[in-house]
Amino acid sequence: MKVGIFDSGVGGITVLKKAVEKLPGVDYIYYSDNLHVPYGTKLKEEVAGYVNEVMEFLLSKGVEVVVIACNTATSIAAHNLREKYNIPIIGMEPAVKLAVDSLNKGKILVTATSLTLKEEKYKQLISRVDQEGRVESLPLAHLVTYAEQGIFEDQIVVDYLKEMLAPYDWIQFSGIVLGCTHFVYYKDIFKKILPSYVKVFDGNEGTIQHLKEVISEKEIIDHSKKGQVTFYYSGKEAPNILESYMKKIK
Ligand code: SIN
Repeated sequence: MKVGIFDSGVGGITVLKKAVEKLPGVDYIYYSDNLHVPYGTKLKEEVAGYVNEVMEFLLSKGVEVVVIACNTATSIAAHNLREKYNIPIIGMEPAVKLAVDSLNKGKILVTATSLTLKEEKYKQLISRVDQEGRVESLPLAHLVTYAEQGIFEDQIVVDYLKEMLAPYDWIQFSGIVLGCTHFVYYKDIFKKILPSYVKVFDGNEGTIQHLKEVISEKEIIDHSKKGQVTFYYSGKEAPNILESYMKKIK
């Protein structure tokens, strides 16, 4: 079984890492669209074009399932890709439902790229799961840039997040959602900055659960087999740089 996982850049490696942990018998092909990252600040038509190119590449490598490990690309393209291609295509969804269901009171701040937050898919999700108006949203574009530059624990990230999160009255909040796979690298920093009663959610676990269901529907995986991970990318980045990102994820 060959599974393709792609992202605009390195964010999807947080999903890949979880996939390898939970489903080690699978062969993974990870594609990082380094040449076009970030997606979240571009026009949706542009992003749709890039995603089509990535899909064609992954299919040429023989993948049988694709995980769009990018919230922005999922918002823009998942629906059309599912209509066009006859293989399972799993997308990311910000874990808003999980946060709303597990926290029965308090507001929830959803962080993502501005494109994700502007899209119809997100608006529909909010109107479906947030009838009580508990959700607020905040774009955090710089985190994508920091992750792409390999800036993880530096003061610059802490200062940026402190500044962006300062305007909120945290007494009123019980949760925060990391609605972009790049943001998952910074989970511990969010936890350090925010009061301990604010729970941090991301969509990675839900996506891998979905992948597991799709795979076992397709075939029984031999768990004694250890799968391979192969990295591909557009642009000039060396693949061993992508591999090294696996170690950054806790
Ligand atoms: C980006 O490329 O701007 C981030 C993509 C994402 O939403 O995960």
